[in-house]
Amino acid sequence: MKVLVTGGAGYIGSHANRVLARQGVETVVLDDLSNGHREAVTEGRLVVGDMGDRALLDELMTAEKFDAIMDFAAFIEVGESVENPAKYYENNVVKLKTLLDAAVAHKIRYFVFSSTAAVFGEPRYVPIDEAHPREPINPYGMTKRIGEAMLDDYGRAYGLVSCAFRYFNAAGDAPDGAIGEAHEPESHLIPRVLRAAKGGRAMKVFGTDYDTRDGSCVRDYVHVEDLAEAHYLGLRHIMETNESEQFNLGSSEGFTVLELIREAERVTGGKIPYELAERRPGDPATLIAANKKAKEILGWEPKRSDLTTILRDAWNWEQNRKY
Ligand code: UFG
Repeated sequence: MKVLVTGGAGYIGSHANRVLARQGVETVVLDDLSNGHREAVTEGRLVVGDMGDRALLDELMTAEKFDAIMDFAAFIEVGESVENPAKYYENNVVKLKTLLDAAVAHKIRYFVFSSTAAVFGEPRYVPIDEAHPREPINPYGMTKRIGEAMLDDYGRAYGLVSCAFRYFNAAGDAPDGAIGEAHEPESHLIPRVLRAAKGGRAMKVFGTDYDTRDGSCVRDYVHVEDLAEAHYLGLRHIMETNESEQFNLGSSEGFTVLELIREAERVTGGKIPYELAERRPGDPATLIAANKKAKEILGWEPKRSDLTTILRDAWNWEQNRKY
């Protein structure tokens, strides 16, 4: 089997690329390296280019006979998407359409898509299952909501079979330390906590008056290695059934920001300097996934998504980063 992995030099895509290789799947990574890292492509061939470049896609898809596409090539910063929605609609919608059109033209039938918990917006209930209304509250979430709709419509009209995964809080790094999270700038909680642990400046806890156990936000952290495995299982599943699917991926357990800091102090063995700060606009109080569907249908089992393992792997990466 041969798979085109767009965005395969990024955080989640590079882990999925490795899992595919481990399963004997041949991969070609297409990444423009705007956020990805050459060193993160440890398997398969890297083509540096833009997934919105139809001529490049035609050339690649003619030369290589792909059975499927896994698409991780998206911009993911909620705050940036509010300030610069054009960038998000251009990449996450317009370029996605180019990729889907090329897939249809070259008869690549199977498409695995990175979606997000941000498609749900402000939760009406938790844990959030797949039936929860999708009412995004920021442009990033909206672009992914539109991506999901495009997959549905392309499925009905052109026979594309897709699997969309809505990640909750992707976290952790490769257990062997080979690849990991390297965003610039880094806005995510765990890397910021660990940088503070290494002696950086005090990190900020955004919001102390939420309706949660201790007033800080509750999130569902899911190990990137578990996410990557779900992609392989999802691809196999849609290839067997020829039916499109959507799955929420999380551990189904929630931790507050302050609980996470305490656990990180235990794992790192040091004090983490932090300040209590104002709420960050757009943060829901609690996000927790219902992961029953992925477990039942895909046989997915999050193996490394307990907070201690996530933090150990992330601490190992933070101390020995390769890029
Ligand atoms: N937080 C802090 N201090 C920081 C950074 C984060 O207190 O320095 C808090 C946030 O307010 C939030 C929690 O830690 O409560 C987690 O924040 P992240 O930025 O790590 O992650 P988000 O939950 O905001 O975002 C994640 C994904 C997004 C996705 C979103 C879905 O990274 O891509 O979930 O709601 F859109």
